[in-house]
Amino acid sequence: MKTTISVIKADVGSIPGHVKVPEELLEIAEKSLKVATQKGIIKSYHVTNCGDDLELIMSHDKGEDNPKIHELAWETFKKAAALAKKRKYYGAGQDLLVEAFSGNVRGMGPGVAEFEIEERPSEPIIVLMCDKTSPSAFNLPFYKIFADPFNTAGLVIDSKIHGGFRFEVHDIKEGKRIFLNCPEEIYDLLALIGLSSRYAIKRVFRRDGVVAAVASTERLSFIAGKYVGKDDPVAITRAQSGFPAVGEILEAFAFPQLVPGWMRGSHRGPLMPVSREEARPTRFDGPPRIMAYGFQVCEGELIGPVDLFGDPSFDLARQQAIEVSEYIRRHGPFEPHLLSPEELEYTTLPEVIKKLKDRFEPIKK
Ligand code: F6R
Ligand code: MG
Ligand code: MG
Repeated sequence: MKTTISVIKADVGSIPGHVKVPEELLEIAEKSLKVATQKGIIKSYHVTNCGDDLELIMSHDKGEDNPKIHELAWETFKKAAALAKKRKYYGAGQDLLVEAFSGNVRGMGPGVAEFEIEERPSEPIIVLMCDKTSPSAFNLPFYKIFADPFNTAGLVIDSKIHGGFRFEVHDIKEGKRIFLNCPEEIYDLLALIGLSSRYAIKRVFRRDGVVAAVASTERLSFIAGKYVGKDDPVAITRAQSGFPAVGEILEAFAFPQLVPGWMRGSHRGPLMPVSREEARPTRFDGPPRIMAYGFQVCEGELIGPVDLFGDPSFDLARQQAIEVSEYIRRHGPFEPHLLSPEELEYTTLPEVIKKLKDRFEPIKK
């Protein structure tokens, strides 16, 4: 049987500042999805948050990009944003960039990761949720999970995945995409995805064409034309028998790689794997976080979640993230803690520099 998993997220208000989704907003979302389940629009759901991002994890039989599902998410965010406004929560309605819904939340502010799958006899999936970073945060870990045998033992020792995976990479500036087969085209893949501010891995497929993972790649700044908060991406991956194991997927996050985001979306900082309890970015509005929720999908029902980074074996990654934070923070307003000028294009910095434009004079030779 076919099941669609849709993870749709938005920042619609938080407490205090950009730290965390208030309980009463989570309750509104919970109620909205409960009613939708009773009406048969979705089959099953889980509402959570990663920092200031409200996450709607839903299962249904309506396929990807379904207007009913997207409308449900949009209306749910709208209701939560209305309460956020009334209660003066911070950044109320921040990610809802347009007034009226027009069939699909893509391009309207929320982030979306969805896939339709043929349920296997047992279907473990992992939902990955980030705060204070951008879609490029998945490039390095997805490479490790699906193409690096030093991360994923199965690429070497399991004939079911020994053939490798196929990557769909998006040029998020030009709005184009390319498919690359690995391991044959690993170097070509790396040539693109290493430039993570421009190229983002959208999907990964098994070599037989079956989907293995999908990430949200919406760039809020490209949609709004100015800085409106970071994109705080989400992703879904399938695990086990024919896909990387749960532990091979999580292993990629034991290295707290540097990602763009953090304070004012303008700094590089380590991506810290955390449980939901610890998805509360407070130091310099960060450092960036990632949560992983594990589910078993059973005839459209989401059984779970298990909060996968709530495990002491990720303590060292967290400790390293803290040490890297301490080190990189000492650069203050200097690169490479500060992002490059191209990456800062949509932030508040160009306006400050503009003020000085007329005071520049030619240097005499
Ligand atoms: C990063 C983020 C925060 C804000 C910062 C300033 O994604 O949301 O770091 O950019 O707190 O916020 P404003 O401009 O709303 O005062
Ligand atoms: Mg916010
Ligand atoms: Mg956020």
